[in-house]
Amino acid sequence: MKNYKVEAILFLFFAFLVATCLAQQRHTEILQNDWKFIKGDPSEAKEISTNTSEWESISLPHDWAIAEDFIKDGDGNTGKLPWKGQAWYRRDLDLSAIKKEEKVFLIFDGVMAFPKVYINGELAGQWDYGYNSFYLDISDYLDFSENAKNVLAVHVDTREHDSRWYPGAGIYRKVSLVTMEPIHTKIWGTQVTTPIIKPNYADVRISSLVKNETSEAKKITVTQRILNPEGNEVANKSISHVLRAGEENYFEVNPQLIDPMRWDIEHPNLYKTITEVKVDEKIVDVSETTFGIRTIEFMPDDGFHLNGRRVQLKGVNLHHGHGPLGAAFYPRAMERQLEIMKSMGVNAIRSSHNTAPPEVLELCDKMGVLMFNEVFDKYDRKADIVDTTNFENFAERNIRNFVMRDRNHPSVFIWSIGNEMHDVQANYNNGFKRLHTMLNYVRKYDHTRPVTMVNDVLDNAALRHFDFYDVHSWNYGRRYRLARQMEPNKSVIISESASTVSTRGFYEFPLPEKKTDFTKSLQVSSYDFHAPDWAEIGDDDFMWQQDEPYIAGEFVWTGFDYLGEPTPYTNRTVKDMGMSDKEAARSSYFGIVDMVGIPKDRYYLYKSYWKPEEKTIHILPHWNWEGKEGENVPVFVYTNGDCAELFINGESQGKQCKSPSSKNATERFRLMWKDVVYQPGELKVIAYKQGKKLGEKTVKTTSEATKIKLSADRKMIKANGMDLSYVLVEAFDKDGNLDPLANESLEIEVSGAGELAGAGNGNPQSFEPLQNDKVDLFYGKAMIILKSGMEVGTIKLKVRSDNLKSDTIKIKTEK
Ligand code: GAL
Repeated sequence: MKNYKVEAILFLFFAFLVATCLAQQRHTEILQNDWKFIKGDPSEAKEISTNTSEWESISLPHDWAIAEDFIKDGDGNTGKLPWKGQAWYRRDLDLSAIKKEEKVFLIFDGVMAFPKVYINGELAGQWDYGYNSFYLDISDYLDFSENAKNVLAVHVDTREHDSRWYPGAGIYRKVSLVTMEPIHTKIWGTQVTTPIIKPNYADVRISSLVKNETSEAKKITVTQRILNPEGNEVANKSISHVLRAGEENYFEVNPQLIDPMRWDIEHPNLYKTITEVKVDEKIVDVSETTFGIRTIEFMPDDGFHLNGRRVQLKGVNLHHGHGPLGAAFYPRAMERQLEIMKSMGVNAIRSSHNTAPPEVLELCDKMGVLMFNEVFDKYDRKADIVDTTNFENFAERNIRNFVMRDRNHPSVFIWSIGNEMHDVQANYNNGFKRLHTMLNYVRKYDHTRPVTMVNDVLDNAALRHFDFYDVHSWNYGRRYRLARQMEPNKSVIISESASTVSTRGFYEFPLPEKKTDFTKSLQVSSYDFHAPDWAEIGDDDFMWQQDEPYIAGEFVWTGFDYLGEPTPYTNRTVKDMGMSDKEAARSSYFGIVDMVGIPKDRYYLYKSYWKPEEKTIHILPHWNWEGKEGENVPVFVYTNGDCAELFINGESQGKQCKSPSSKNATERFRLMWKDVVYQPGELKVIAYKQGKKLGEKTVKTTSEATKIKLSADRKMIKANGMDLSYVLVEAFDKDGNLDPLANESLEIEVSGAGELAGAGNGNPQSFEPLQNDKVDLFYGKAMIILKSGMEVGTIKLKVRSDNLKSDTIKIKTEK
């Protein structure tokens, strides 16, 4: 019989040995708490001795403008929030666990903008592009003498930053303090590629860039231990080189994996390599890199192939903001965005138009979402390129960080070097030279993926900028036509499709004659017929893709509404309509879901087409049209069925079927009863698929709301100061039906083990601050976001109003 006790003791002994050996290895601390913050530029803010007792205590992530009052007559294009200015962040660094000879780095995942990083009063480094990750070696600035104070101070300045949306301001993504032995793999220094993938094996190439920062030459051994998706070691290869003092070099091994499990959107299997760096039999550095085994290919006439099969890209564009949380990045907010998008059938996202935080790539890997990874919007102050910027140097640094950081993620299937750069497309000011510079740097750091540029000026295709890159990417209006005709050997991505606009819950009739018939209501009717003049409705893109199979897929503008860019109610357009700046909205109408993630009608249109295997039967509008009795109210049904019959109070309004070959796209994808005569009561639809009943759906005329109902997406969250629970607030009438017109003002009370992180309602015209204890219901709904504290306990949320019965919900937090 086996002696389990001895085995257990031995195991503990070895665990202890390993732990002691590893004690001085790479260590990462996220600098989340204990920051001090001040707006403006007080003198001596960077000095060790500065008194910060008057500064605000904050934790990261932090967006200094998002909780502020809206500037009603401000610029709607950037969200009407006070994001321009300077500010300082400070924090003490605790070096008690760090040895003097170790190397200490700070990694910033995004600071808006132009951060200057000071350690103990000295400038340790700076960056320009506010969306990019960068790191600094701060070892030489630290003071290891006994009782010494070490102060990190960061100056942030958004005055030179330009934007076409709300950019946020401050240290809005995480900051990590990484400590390593002087001999280590460099940050982002491991690259995993898979040169050969066959059904029964894969050849993996793993290259780690190792640096010897000691003063002597050393023989160094690097071992890659590969763990399969189940966590079992499946390969193990080592290689040794001598590195001279100060030298860095690549250590490459080529293990073979037998019967590899593929990474796919259905089964996102992830492998991991553990990189161990050994000197004199002692492990001095351990790091981990996640990767996947998959093939990607664009076929000129057959779109995009993943693992050898065609996958139509059902994508959305996502801006970096998270509604009421602003630019502040919480991984859970992103995970929820992806969950909502996936529930609609999304299999890809485009990080329009800037580098995403690393957690987004990790989530895409884990959730099986393909990532169109884009770095810039224009090569100007929107990318923090100013008059004094050296373009070559800027491109080299920023592309290096962007590609090195993200190149191991299997979800990344294409790189985009930027969006709609008009000067580049037209080859002004050395446009093609700059394009070439960017592309070369991408290819220098990753040769395994296609690269593209996103275009919008159809005629400029005649200049053949597409000769420089791999895939045609075009926004809107079949503008890809000329490029595709001139170069049919490249596939096409509709990198921005639709740009349909609508307001959740709001309907106007008669239906518009033109897509640009916008009214002075300052809201956009949700019959999904509206788009700006440069764009189209979603159905058109579905139709083009059906008719032109070489199109690899689309990325809808946008998945979520976002702060800024409030087309059609921008400052300019409302003034053209005879109104003032005050009437310009503060957030977009483009989203398939509103700014807090509540689906608009369009969500069901996409779902019905993108997820045909799942039942969708959605009726619009609501059925509360008091005063419109006897008038026409158009009724639409979005369904994955092919026909449906509509009834009002039991009386048939006729059967409609989709017309799959119609040249009018809406007839292919929606069922429309345009002349229904309104009478209150019950609207019912029975949907059919291939002649069989698929299901039915009913919408009722409701009475006025009497009570509030709260429901949380998660009732148990982590007590880490970062986790979120999204609580949907709805107003119900006495019979338990949602009142689609309820617009009561609500008061929010949060107590216990967390706090209010934000609240919103999807109204682009709401000027209630986004992190206040108030929110208005908007067409019956609103969203409250709760954030955990660091302690285990219960967060209690109570929501009340003058006329509705209040509701309370409890969210538990756990370690
Ligand atoms: C595109 C642009 C996007 C957004 C969109 C709105 O031209 O690339 O960033 O502005 O228009 O329709």
